[in-house]
Amino acid sequence: MHLAIIMDGNGRWAKAQNKNRTEGHKVGAEVVKKITTYCSNNPEIKYLTLYAFSTENWKRPKMEVDFLMKLLDNWLKKELETYIKNEVRFEVIGDISKFSKKLQKRIEITKEKTKNFNRLTQILALNYGSRDEIIRAVKKLCDKNLEVTEENISKNLDTANFPDVDLLIRTSGEVRLSNFLLWQVAYAEMFFTPTLWPDFTEKELEEIIENYKKRERRFGGI
Ligand code: FPP
Repeated sequence: MHLAIIMDGNGRWAKAQNKNRTEGHKVGAEVVKKITTYCSNNPEIKYLTLYAFSTENWKRPKMEVDFLMKLLDNWLKKELETYIKNEVRFEVIGDISKFSKKLQKRIEITKEKTKNFNRLTQILALNYGSRDEIIRAVKKLCDKNLEVTEENISKNLDTANFPDVDLLIRTSGEVRLSNFLLWQVAYAEMFFTPTLWPDFTEKELEEIIENYKKRERRFGGI
């Protein structure tokens, strides 16, 4: 199963506790660790894609953007041992060429050191926007002189090596996709929970998965 999550509500969680927004992101990062570990121990889940930074997130105050970049760098450095311990392969979708050279290097190292694991593939969406990804894919087709077909587009998206999304979850009560995996969720089941990301737990995820399994997926058939 490919599970994708829009981790939303860090800012509102912090505000409700009278804390700075950055505190919400810090706690959010701990939840990423918990949920990834849970998924690595659930043999039904093979792919976990997390929306960590969108192409629109650059519009946030510089201080928050800088904080998120630093958090990601420190987090990858600190969590490499967790990836190794849990045999999780780390992958990225999105255009990371806009990130600092240091962060790009950190991302490459993490990918390289985890590339042979297959208990779970965790895919972070970084400077990711679905429309941007589709435009880049179509440009690749033009460059390679390939016909515009469903298969060729899929094979030239950042997600070329991963299956379509089966289950999409968004936290914090917002009911929208916000430019996340538009192509890949064509047949996905979707769940929207009011829980803010820093409050999201393994137990709630388990309940959503149980519910998902009861849904009948027909892929356009009857
Ligand atoms: C949405 O909350 C969250 C983000 C834009 C960033 C997601 C980042 C994390 C969960 C932590 C870092 C991740 C890793 C992998 C280390 P929001 O700020 O939009 O919340 P709001 O809508 O309540 O303001």
